[in-house]
Amino acid sequence: MRKRILFVCLGNICRSPAAEGVFRGLVPEAETDSAGTARYHVGKPPYGPMQAAARARGVELSDLRARQFQSDDFLRFDLILAMDSENLADIEAQRPRDNNTPVQLFAPFAAGDGDQDVPDPYYTRDFEGCLDLIERAASGLASHLQGGAL
Ligand code: 4NP
Repeated sequence: MRKRILFVCLGNICRSPAAEGVFRGLVPEAETDSAGTARYHVGKPPYGPMQAAARARGVELSDLRARQFQSDDFLRFDLILAMDSENLADIEAQRPRDNNTPVQLFAPFAAGDGDQDVPDPYYTRDFEGCLDLIERAASGLASHLQGGAL
């Protein structure tokens, strides 16, 4: 089965589009999307500094547009990855009755360094550190899925 993976952060202009962009480069056969739990940036492309930092690593994000997470996403995806624990709680609060779609933190797939959350570079301004963590987590997630999960 073709895997459908959704990446979720708060604004859908920094972390989740970057995660989607990196992951789709690693696993082009997966169906990917990203969304934000908030609606501030709906319709906008990824944040300029994040696009530039990703582009310097060969990851193009300019085709992506922000949208808000909706409870229907539980039915449309096989796995939902949250960028931090607040995103995870906001996603779980919208879970439809009797739905079992897995929702997991993304950073722990970067095995070894104990990160639970992807720090938000919109506030930290550390786009390189954010992309370093996203690249490690995306690679760990790709191995996990290629190992037969889902
Ligand atoms: P993101 O970062 O959740 O990684 O897209 C944010 C970008 C903008 C805002 C919050 C988070 N904002 O409040 O405008």
